[in-house]
Amino acid sequence: MVAVIIPAAGSGSRLGGLPKQMRLLGDAPMLLHTAQVFDRHPAVSCLVVVGPPKNLDLIEGMLTSLKKPYQVVAGGATRQKSVQAGLKAVSDSTSIVLIHDAARPFVSAQIITKVIESTEIAGAAAVAMPVTDTVRYGEEGSFTNTISRDELYAMQTPQGFKYDLLQQAFCQAEGVSQATDDVALMGHIGQPVRIVEGDRWNVKITTQSDWEWAQQVWEKRA
Ligand code: CTP
Ligand code: MG
Repeated sequence: MVAVIIPAAGSGSRLGGLPKQMRLLGDAPMLLHTAQVFDRHPAVSCLVVVGPPKNLDLIEGMLTSLKKPYQVVAGGATRQKSVQAGLKAVSDSTSIVLIHDAARPFVSAQIITKVIESTEIAGAAAVAMPVTDTVRYGEEGSFTNTISRDELYAMQTPQGFKYDLLQQAFCQAEGVSQATDDVALMGHIGQPVRIVEGDRWNVKITTQSDWEWAQQVWEKRA
């Protein structure tokens, strides 16, 4: 059984205004678009959506059109705490847990399939894009060292984990790490994570220009 946890408890401070996951993209909130991709995927059994504690009823109301069983649970102050709250709601008969940001509504079914397949084989897998820009350290407004980009990846989601490994990783990480993704947790238990190549559409909507881009993409698709 494959469950997906969708962390959607952030405040969207870099975008400002209404938390981005609740904003309308076309005719529906961004969160619903994201949840629907998993709802329609044949290998996914159920969804756990992690929402801001103050807005759980609102989030619940946005998701009533989903066909698969879903739960809405209260998130925490950091993404890691929100994912942990989501994991508590996942049944222990689950074999694989996917974690996917609510703020990535353009995730494709093909990527979800690849992450599930790689997780089955390797125990853990995550979507990433090889870095194509030149990467350099900067300090106080000036560049310092250049980093070789050959071995660098920009992480995306979904990230997939065997249920037991994720439980174990969260136990080890308790009180230690404030990771911005869940691959970081695997380091605590020495578990390798397989790379699944992503695509350029699977952007995490973060800034005003991302939001404007997302609206344009959505209009073209509609
Ligand atoms: N998230 C969460 N709980 C938090 C923080 C973030 O569930 N305490 C979720 C967000 O809702 C989002 C995903 O994690 O779907 C990725 O986080 P990010 O893009 O950083 O979203 P926000 O934290 O909401 O935005 P910002 O950092 O600009 O405030
Ligand atoms: Mg954030």
